[in-house]
Amino acid sequence: MTKTRRSAAWYGKLDRDGFIHRSWMKNQGFPDHAFDGRPVIGICNTWSELTPCNSGLRDLAEGVKRGVWEAGGFPVEFPVMSLGETQMKPTAMLFRNLLAMDVEESIRAYGLDAVVLLGGCDKTTPGQLMGAASVDLPAIVVSSGPMLNGKWKGEDIGSGTDVWKFSEAVRAGDMSLQDFMAAESGMSRSKGVCMTMGTASTMASLVEAMGMSLPTNAALPAVDSRRMALAHLTGNRIVEMVDEDLKPSDVMSRAAFENAILANAAVGGSTNAVVHLLAIAGRVGVDLTLKDFELGGEIPLLVNCMPSGSYLMEDFCYAGGMPVVLNELGDHLRPAKTVLGGDIRAYAEGAECHNRDVIRPFDDPLKPAAGLRVLRGNLAPDGAIIKPSAASDALLDHEGTAYVFENIEDMKANIDRDDLPVTPDTILVLKGCGPKGYPGMPEVGNMPIPKKLVQQGVRDMVRVSDARMSGTAYGTVVLHVSPEAQAGGALALVKTGDRIRLSAVEGRLDLLIPEAELATRRAAWAPDPPRYDRGYARMYVDHVLQADKGADLDFLTGKDTRPVTRESH
Ligand code: FES
Repeated sequence: MTKTRRSAAWYGKLDRDGFIHRSWMKNQGFPDHAFDGRPVIGICNTWSELTPCNSGLRDLAEGVKRGVWEAGGFPVEFPVMSLGETQMKPTAMLFRNLLAMDVEESIRAYGLDAVVLLGGCDKTTPGQLMGAASVDLPAIVVSSGPMLNGKWKGEDIGSGTDVWKFSEAVRAGDMSLQDFMAAESGMSRSKGVCMTMGTASTMASLVEAMGMSLPTNAALPAVDSRRMALAHLTGNRIVEMVDEDLKPSDVMSRAAFENAILANAAVGGSTNAVVHLLAIAGRVGVDLTLKDFELGGEIPLLVNCMPSGSYLMEDFCYAGGMPVVLNELGDHLRPAKTVLGGDIRAYAEGAECHNRDVIRPFDDPLKPAAGLRVLRGNLAPDGAIIKPSAASDALLDHEGTAYVFENIEDMKANIDRDDLPVTPDTILVLKGCGPKGYPGMPEVGNMPIPKKLVQQGVRDMVRVSDARMSGTAYGTVVLHVSPEAQAGGALALVKTGDRIRLSAVEGRLDLLIPEAELATRRAAWAPDPPRYDRGYARMYVDHVLQADKGADLDFLTGKDTRPVTRESH
């Protein structure tokens, strides 16, 4: 070994500090040789019973430990904040940056040489990657893996996607409340993340496309024994990476982010990938912008998974998973190093597809040109996005009259009013749901179709907001309008009755009113009073960047790899 390990500053010293660092760890029964200079591997765990999607991570941590011991390392598991998407209020996204801070400071403060990141539920993967990137020690991701396919009345049902459908069916009077309640038990049949191509599986797929996990990590079901084997192999590999000094900044290059954008189009991935990739790139020092997401524009949809298709993650796994998708992307993929040390294109080459209905060939896709579209115009000067693969083709070029909800409470109180003055051509506008406004940019952009229209059979309308949308959701939904209303963006100035034009093809989103009128409204505008005056939420609102910058905190971008030299005793 030519380089002194980082952990030696904790466990390698023959003085009082070394005694203290070793002795207290020995109270767990670790023998002397655990401190003989072998790599200390942190296992950063977001396991929690309040994050059901990550409830299998305790088992996977044991798999990682086996692999680390076997390879001659010393594994130590530690908890970080867990973010249960379906359980947290006001929204888990408010806390993504807090998790990232927790991960960063935990890795830095302890005597670790490398880290395995155990995450899964939506915000846990990007939060962990952001934090790990800012310390830049060798790191690999092991994901929770998806739940088994949901089953109800003999049919497959998908997390999230079918909840939205069932809920609209109940509102339309097409589904009984008893059936609605019965379906919830069949939907979530095992540990694991949503088994649609929601945000969790999207981020796991992009992690694999970026080379930050071992192959097949994204799609193996949470309860498949091969996931435990993958955790074991990851434990083996992370020990080798310490000696190779293979860091996140070596793997998450600009090329890796571009591969993630291409892969996101091919899998029909979540719109949430945009804010997460931008934030991770900001940590690792890659100058990624919203414009870079246009790279995915011409990539076809290859993966036939909900919400853009009809299958689920278990089917995607059995069809071959991400290696097949990356192989189909072929020459579109950029050369980029993976945690295995080789090139991503080599790892994908020759991957065999076992079901062409689930993963389509590049030249016979499910939909052509499926990537997210970036929109600009006077209503979104810094950009907005739309996911055409989950939208209605007929609405992607649409001009209509705005009906405005000033905030989420206004929308919830009025959306089902019988006298709501809306038609199928109306454009629904929702304000106050951006990073600062809500705060935390919740997944409410796919606001429900007004009840009176649902009952007429309407299932989609153009909707515009500064919010995000669940990766499991669908519809002609314009999201992440920047700047947001609370930051004084033009969205704040829209009034009911204004005309709005959306053209996804041209990449435009425009408020069709004269500039002079906009200036008059702007002069009269003032932000809402802050909803929080203390604690983390106060810090978040004061420092959060807008969605087009990834909604990280302004003082957390970049990294700090300096050694910690001061002792606590
Ligand atoms: Fe956790 Fe979907 S809610 S992965």
